[in-house]
Amino acid sequence: MRKSVEPTSVFDSTNAHAILLTVNHVERSLNVPQDTALLYILRNDLELNGPKYGCGLGECGACTVLVNGKAVRSCSIPIKSVIGKEVITLEGLGSPGLPHPVVQAFITMQAAQCGYCLNGMIMGTVGFLKKIPQPTDLQIREALKHYLCRCGTHIEIMQAVKLAAELMSKDGKRSINPEASLDTSIS
Ligand code: FES
Ligand code: FES
Repeated sequence: MRKSVEPTSVFDSTNAHAILLTVNHVERSLNVPQDTALLYILRNDLELNGPKYGCGLGECGACTVLVNGKAVRSCSIPIKSVIGKEVITLEGLGSPGLPHPVVQAFITMQAAQCGYCLNGMIMGTVGFLKKIPQPTDLQIREALKHYLCRCGTHIEIMQAVKLAAELMSKDGKRSINPEASLDTSIS
């Protein structure tokens, strides 16, 4: 069994390197150890708290972000692996005045209880619907089965994903990064 490593912003400065990252369309310069998990950099250094710390083991999906359009688990990838790539977090989807269709669908369907899983559900759904714009119920279940919701909000989440597919087919806002090569899996 893998061991979970708690998030920390206390770095060994002797191991730090200057790196450039592009996060939510903004270039950021950081002086951090290159093996630090992306999640900790996002939350502790860039104050982007959309991605959540759940298991720290790549198993729950709460920490999901998009890297070049693909949903990835930011607790499990080192910062050095995203240098030169586009990282999008929940904060980079739409705006409060003009929410991304997937965010709007989750709001409309009130698809949350505690809300802790929603970052992963939403970011995973964005990546999934780019690849399969009009999914069946079975495809939605398959895509989201590795995202954990301890509150049991699955019925509303299914409805939200279906509404998101409808909204995105209407307004064509499916793509955050049209250049990105996408993957069907929501990892
Ligand atoms: S915190 Fe990353 S998958 Fe659980
Ligand atoms: S709404 Fe609480 S974990 Fe999903």
